[in-house]
Amino acid sequence: MTPVSWDSRERGASGAGSLPVAASRGQLQAELDRLRRGGGTLALVPTMGYLHPGHLALLDRAASMADHVVLSIFVNPLQFGPGEDLDRYPRSLGRDLELASTRGAVLAFTPSVQEMYPEGPPRVRVDPGPGGNVLCGAFRPGHFEGVLTVVARLFGLVRPDVAVFGRKDAQQVALVREMSRDLELGVEIDVAPLVREPDGLAMSSRNAYLSAPEREVAPHLFQALEAADLAFRDGEGRSAALETRVRDRLGRSAAEAGGEPVPSFRLEYAQVVDPGTLARVDDARPGHLLAVAAWLGTTRLIDNVVLGADDPDPRIPGPVQEP
Ligand code: PAF
Repeated sequence: MTPVSWDSRERGASGAGSLPVAASRGQLQAELDRLRRGGGTLALVPTMGYLHPGHLALLDRAASMADHVVLSIFVNPLQFGPGEDLDRYPRSLGRDLELASTRGAVLAFTPSVQEMYPEGPPRVRVDPGPGGNVLCGAFRPGHFEGVLTVVARLFGLVRPDVAVFGRKDAQQVALVREMSRDLELGVEIDVAPLVREPDGLAMSSRNAYLSAPEREVAPHLFQALEAADLAFRDGEGRSAALETRVRDRLGRSAAEAGGEPVPSFRLEYAQVVDPGTLARVDDARPGHLLAVAAWLGTTRLIDNVVLGADDPDPRIPGPVQEP
């Protein structure tokens, strides 16, 4: 694979390689019929594009699970609130298609908003239930309703056997799983590893928004989670104490710059939750999720660790059993 830079927002559209692209529903169905005629299972990797190595891990995981991998690229207006970054969300379709073709995808579905929602914003939407109002949902009202509605629509259009999502969006994973199970959608939900930059920053398309000084400070988010996980491994089981550790560590990151003015974090939440139910727990146990969201300037970052995980690349487990 050609080495690429993930930092620049200026990703040229340099061609789609050999990857067939379906921009309309009709083209999608024709391509899917062609694939299905050959037999085999189908995996869907839903994305909003501007692919980075985290997305490529989704494609790799999907390719290991199914015979055919379909990638969707659609920046879904339904999941953006007023004043959020819908208009400036980075896009790089040509490059995305080129990359995806090198990682096992056999078809890209790239609908316009008009193609995805021909009748305008859908009147019937998927209610995420109580799990949609906590963590990120508490700060982004309507976000998970928008996510689940577009994911349900994609499932209906593509009818995959399995769909792969990233562990960084742990709340999204839990809610999509719940939706697929509760609504009997018949789609297996699988999780791909969280991919980090060498300095620990979780990869995200939104990292492109960070200024150079913000980018320097951004890895402190993961360092704060690591510090709390270390405390947990050393015997601290009170969730409140672990959450305070994250808060304090982020507060210190500005002070550590030796008096230089540096960007500082504005924490939205740091919470220990059950990864299956997303409910906050008072007593942390191995397998619980410590999740965090914070702003650096105009960029909202999220991250999480699975507490006490032996596996450096833990998948999100189901609900932690009470002893
Ligand atoms: O994780 C994302 O990129 C989006 O939320 C998704 C799942 C593609 C739905 O728009």
